Amino acid sequence: MLPLSYEDIVENLSEAVIAVDNDLRIAVFNQSAEKMTEMSRTLVLGRPLGEVFKRDARLVEMLSKTVAEGRLFAEYEERLHRRFGSALPVGITTSQVFDSNGNQCGAAALIKDLSGIKSLEAATLRKERLAYIGQFAANLAHELRNPLSGMRGAAQLLSRKITDERLCEYTGVIMKEADRLNSIINEMLDFARPGRLNVKEINIHRVLDSVVMLMQDAGAFVKNYDPSLPPVLGDEDQLTQVFLNLVKNAKEASNGAAAITITTRITTDFHVTKANGAPGRTASVEIRDAGCGIKPEDLERIFTPFFTTKPRGTGLGMAISLKIIKEHNGHLKIESGVGAGTAVTVYLPTAEATQ
Ligand SMILES: Nc1ncnc2c1ncn2[C@@H]1O[C@H](COP(=O)(O)OP(=O)(O)OP(=O)(O)O)[C@@H](O)[C@H]1O
Ligand SMILES: [Mg+2]
Repeated sequence: MLPLSYEDIVENLSEAVIAVDNDLRIAVFNQSAEKMTEMSRTLVLGRPLGEVFKRDARLVEMLSKTVAEGRLFAEYEERLHRRFGSALPVGITTSQVFDSNGNQCGAAALIKDLSGIKSLEAATLRKERLAYIGQFAANLAHELRNPLSGMRGAAQLLSRKITDERLCEYTGVIMKEADRLNSIINEMLDFARPGRLNVKEINIHRVLDSVVMLMQDAGAFVKNYDPSLPPVLGDEDQLTQVFLNLVKNAKEASNGAAAITITTRITTDFHVTKANGAPGRTASVEIRDAGCGIKPEDLERIFTPFFTTKPRGTGLGMAISLKIIKEHNGHLKIESGVGAGTAVTVYLPTAEATQ
């Protein structure tokens, strides 16, 4: 038989074990207890529990009552202070300890680190809240549309009736701003709506060409297309919207100063498996600008709806693009350096990937 002792087992548990004798002096303090409390056992063994855990009154109370009254505790909403870091969310259970003659010789606490579980709970909560806000925003957007079109219509009528040019300018502003609001509302509604994709085999180069054409400034682009790129599986309109958003951002960042390079490639992607089990291939489209770049602290916020650094930006472009790409089972990668420019790469499964 392998030499396996209770001591080794306790020492290697992922839960912290803290045991006290009948005088409430610490008798056992395993490795996980050292890790969680950030205290070395040489400092705590033999010392009074209440003195070592001054800040954890609940733990002291539980162990004291277990020793004195034989009561057992199991609590999941406790906190354990660490010597240096912030307090950990923990679950604590206590039990009495008896010697081989059946006499009580102390009590033990088993402490489980719940920080992983707590952050999972927080993430779920955040997601639910986001879904709720999304629904709320969609309703609000819907309600705003009717009065807005009424206002726009009235301004249009007014502009026909008035002859004073200066006044016409004002009605023009009302109509232009109403149109802008309307397009924000449409984007919001698009964003809140669950995606309905009309998936076909599409030629991504044709999509990119139409985006470049829509930007009405073809000279500002360098096309670096891989002619052997197979068709991708996707919704042409939705992907046009994605690349329009990305190209618009690239153009706004570089202020027309330098060309924007669009590169397409084929990569072997081990995330995608074909029906025969072989790795599928992924098409990648990189949009690279030499513009202002994104500050590291902004990088994780650019996908948050309404995050923008532009005076007239809406901050929906990246949020919508990411949503669409995810619905296509694709990925998005960003590399950016302040002053050096930005490269956004979109990965999409090729039509052959699923065959
Ligand atoms: N290529 C880029 N270079 C530099 N910053 C970028 C680039 N792409 C995105 N950003 C940053 O991310 C932010 C969010 O982009 P997003 O497209 O979501 O909104 P926006 O461009 O500000 O407004 P709009 O809704 O009109 O697109 C931008 O305001 C900008 O700070
Ligand atoms: Mg944008």
